[in-house]
Amino acid sequence: MTKPQTILVTGSAGQLGQSIKTIATDYPDCEFVFANRQQLDLSNETSITDFFEHQTFHVIINCAAHTAVDKAESEPELANQINHIAVQKLSNIAKQHNTKLIHISTDYVFNGRQYRPYLETDSVEPQGVYGQTKLSGEQAIRNILKNNAIIIRTSWVYSEYGNNFVKTILKLGQERDSLNVIFDQVGTPTYAKDLAKAIMNIVQGRNFKHVDFTTSIVHFSNEGVCSWYDFAKAIFELANIQCHVNAIETKDYPTPAKRPHYSVLNKAKIKQTYSVATPYWKDSLKQCVIDLQGKVS
Ligand SMILES: NC(=O)c1ccc[n+]([C@@H]2O[C@H](COP(=O)([O-])OP(=O)(O)OC[C@H]3O[C@@H](n4cnc5c(N)ncnc54)[C@H](OP(=O)(O)O)[C@@H]3O)[C@@H](O)[C@H]2O)c1
Repeated sequence: MTKPQTILVTGSAGQLGQSIKTIATDYPDCEFVFANRQQLDLSNETSITDFFEHQTFHVIINCAAHTAVDKAESEPELANQINHIAVQKLSNIAKQHNTKLIHISTDYVFNGRQYRPYLETDSVEPQGVYGQTKLSGEQAIRNILKNNAIIIRTSWVYSEYGNNFVKTILKLGQERDSLNVIFDQVGTPTYAKDLAKAIMNIVQGRNFKHVDFTTSIVHFSNEGVCSWYDFAKAIFELANIQCHVNAIETKDYPTPAKRPHYSVLNKAKIKQTYSVATPYWKDSLKQCVIDLQGKVS
């Protein structure tokens, strides 16, 4: 009998971590270890050392991150610790034990001034602390792991779990008659379950044990393009909520962190290399809204 592939999922209480958990039973040949912040605290180097002292894994899927984009502006050291220094440490551990690292990064590494979907090779220029620390995390991986790491940049993640745009808009739509939503930031939503499936497709599809793969960056989101305004309109339409959406400009909704105006990701590379599915954003949104409404009723 072949040994199961052992997979550590960090940040397991987050949107992506929980989405991987929901599909884990579809992969009976994998043995998952889900670690939340209490079990593996990436802001604490001792916690990391202790966690890996007596256990090794074939694969680490790093879903943990300091994801509070605005809060990161006022706590840059903590954001850097989690999004950069801890990733450096995980990379060293991965190198030491020949562990494959799948790391999630962000569209916020780009400045958003482009008018065509971003390629992995396009130049980066983060606009805030979150994007900068995530970029430093990417660079740490590439410096330490020449092989066996995959950095997946994604955008606008939502799910049935945690706090996200879809859940916020659904809640506000039930409380208010109208909402102001930004129309001049354009990107693509990503349903965390679709990303979870893509990650597992990559983990399963490659024979990690026998072949060394050069570390690379790939982009993943759902298919299509929208603004936050379009996203909100689609949520109300699918949930059958009567709430008027006013399209406003970014300048009328000031936030501590600057965000890219355009951050659509080109997904050709991940599709060609790993044959992952990238469903149309509205189709996936429908699934999530149905799921969320089922939970409410
Ligand atoms: N959300 C987005 O729109 C978005 C967009 C682009 C890229 N990404 C990237 O996608 C990945 C997954 O994001 P997500 O949406 O699943 O984020 P999320 O829901 O915020 O989950 C992040 C997880 O990281 C955990 N975490 C925070 N600080 C930690 C620490 N010190 N030690 C260990 N764990 C810690 C959180 O723990 P608690 O549950 O205890 O808070 C949370 O469970 C991240 O790398 C993120 O940067 C996200």
